[in-house]
This record gives sequence, C-alpha cells and structure tokens, in this order.
Amino acid sequence: MSSPIEASRNSHFPNLMSLQSFILREEERYPSAGGDFTWILSALSLAAKSIAAKVRTARIEDVLGEQGGANVHGETQQKLDVIANDILMTCLGNRPSVAVVASEEDEEPTILRRGSQGGKYCVIFDPLDGSSNLDVCVSVGTVFSILRNDPNIPGAAETLQQPGTKQLAAGYILYGSSTVFVLTTGNGVHMFVLDPAIGTFVLVKSNIQIPRAHRSYSVNEAYRHSFPAGIQRYLDWAHQHDYSSRYIGSMVSDVHRILLQGGVFLYPPTKKNPTGKLRLMYEANPMAFIMEQAGGRAVVGSGPEPDRRVLEIEPTGIHQRTSLVIGSPDEVANVLTHLKAS
Ligand code: AHG
Ligand code: MN
Ligand code: MN
Repeated sequence: MSSPIEASRNSHFPNLMSLQSFILREEERYPSAGGDFTWILSALSLAAKSIAAKVRTARIEDVLGEQGGANVHGETQQKLDVIANDILMTCLGNRPSVAVVASEEDEEPTILRRGSQGGKYCVIFDPLDGSSNLDVCVSVGTVFSILRNDPNIPGAAETLQQPGTKQLAAGYILYGSSTVFVLTTGNGVHMFVLDPAIGTFVLVKSNIQIPRAHRSYSVNEAYRHSFPAGIQRYLDWAHQHDYSSRYIGSMVSDVHRILLQGGVFLYPPTKKNPTGKLRLMYEANPMAFIMEQAGGRAVVGSGPEPDRRVLEIEPTGIHQRTSLVIGSPDEVANVLTHLKAS
C-alpha cells in the first residue's frame, strides 16, 4: 500500500502552486541566496496586490486624474503614479536584503542600507506603466528589475548602472481583466494570476515560449513621418503582407499580448524623443530579459548597430531612454532586415 504522500503525488488533483511556494522552490537552486529573494518577491507580491486594489477602486475613491506635479521626465504624474510608488517603497523599504531602490517617479535613488547594515540587492521599477490610460479604464502595469548591490561602489546611482545582462530577476504585474504577475529569475518565464477569492498569485503557466512569428505589429503609427526610414520601409512591407496592428499605448499590456500571441512591439526614435521614449533600466531591460528567456528578442532597432541587444547597453544614467524593438524572433528579424537595407 502506498503512503499518503505517494498517494497524493499519484492522484489527479490539479497542482496548485502559489507565487510564494514557487519562489521558495526556485531558491533551493541557490542556497547562497539564503531566503533573501523570497523576501523581496513577497514584498513585490504584496505591493502588487495593494496596487491592484487601488487601481480597481480608483474611480470610487476619486484618485484618478493628475497629481499636479511632474516626474523627472517632465511628464505629468497621475495620482495613482504617486500612490503606486509609495506602496512599492513601503513594501520594499523594510526588507533587510534591499540596499537601494529607484523609481521612474523619483529623480534620485533611495539608499536604504549601507555597508555593515547589509543589503545585497537593488530594485528599480516603473510603479505604473501606461498610467495616462487609467482614466479610461485601460490596463496598466508595474515593471521591476532586481540587481545585485556592489557595496564597493559608493554612489547609489552608480551601483544601479549595470547592463541588463546582470539582472538577477525581472518581472511585471499587469492590472487587466485579471491581475497577472510574470516573472523570470533567469530560469524561464512564469505567469501567475491573482485569485481574488484567496488573495494569492497562483501559477497558471510555466516556461512560457513566445510564438516564433505572428503577423502583428504594435507601434504608435501616428509618429510614422518622424520614424527612421528603415522603420517606415518595414511598415510599408508589413502593410503589403497582411499584418494586423494592435497598440494599447501601455507598453506592459502590448508586450504581454505579444509574449503570449507573438508579434513585435516597436518604439523607435522620433523627433520628439530622438533616443526613443522608453526608459532603459525599468522598462526596456526587464521586458528584454523576460522576452529573451521566452525565446524572443529585444534589440535597439536604431543607429549604426540596430541589432544590438538592449540587455548589452551600458547605462550611463538610471533614467536614460532607449529605442526598442521587442517580440517574436522572426518578427524582430523582419524589422532588422528593413533597417539594414539601404
Ligand atoms: P509611463 O506611463 O510609465 O510614463 O509609460 C508610458 C509609455 C508606455 O507605457 C507606452 O508604451 C508609451 O508610453 C506610449 O507612448 P506614446 O503615447 O508616445 O505612444
Ligand atoms: Mn512606463
Ligand atoms: Mn510609469
């Protein structure tokens, strides 16, 4: 007769795995991490649930609309940008393994712990991506990247300025028709959905692989006249080859769709944003890490080396921008073909 444990293994019960248990299991692969990662990711999970609740009730609690200030990029801050930022800072602030946090909404990084006070990791994030869509009930997201802290580097900004290849983990939370948490720790891409009945993120898909190709592009085509000639050639080609166009205007939502269904997202240089609009360290890098882990590609798509991996850019500032072409490997290759044709 089999023992109760063997019996449950052999049963046909579905496997219900929480984000928390998943991280604990992942961490067994890195005994030196000593549980630190679990603490950080549980802080992010708590923040995600809290932000999700705020997003859902924003209209009722009257926290939609503009805050009345501007962030470091001179962009209008929404009230929820500030609320989401505060929630993340509060949740991460009391985790002893976090040395430095930095956000799209704050010009300077915040040093939480120095030297002997510990702190092996830095977390950098976009608290709410696509926040100008909030008033019209369109999906928004949170994007984060976790890096190792080097205590020998004196400045907080300098310790953060690591290329995307050095990321230890990255992810995003999408506040859509369901709340989805997508995570990579460099061992595949895994997707969790918040079950509101139990307040827990539950694993719904592990080792996501992006479709190799899908005839769909995602770009703000209104800027077409100011895109580089190669991007305009690509768009002409795509029109002739029966591509469809989808653009939510909330990068996390657009890239999430592409991760699951395939296609390509582009934010090329424009006259208004000659180096691209998206922020390297807390928008492009985490999404690029996820995309590459899922078998996709993420390249700069501009300049003399358009096929340069976003993850290889050496950052010179925590808020620097980059152009971005990200998605299915064959679709990114199609864009590059047109960028390289003279
Ligand atoms: P954020 O709300 O964090 O400032 O980011 C907005 C970004 C991104 O989500 C989106 O893809 C892009 O801005 C849309 O820009 P355009 O309106 O220029 O297309
Ligand atoms: Mn953003
Ligand atoms: Mn934002």
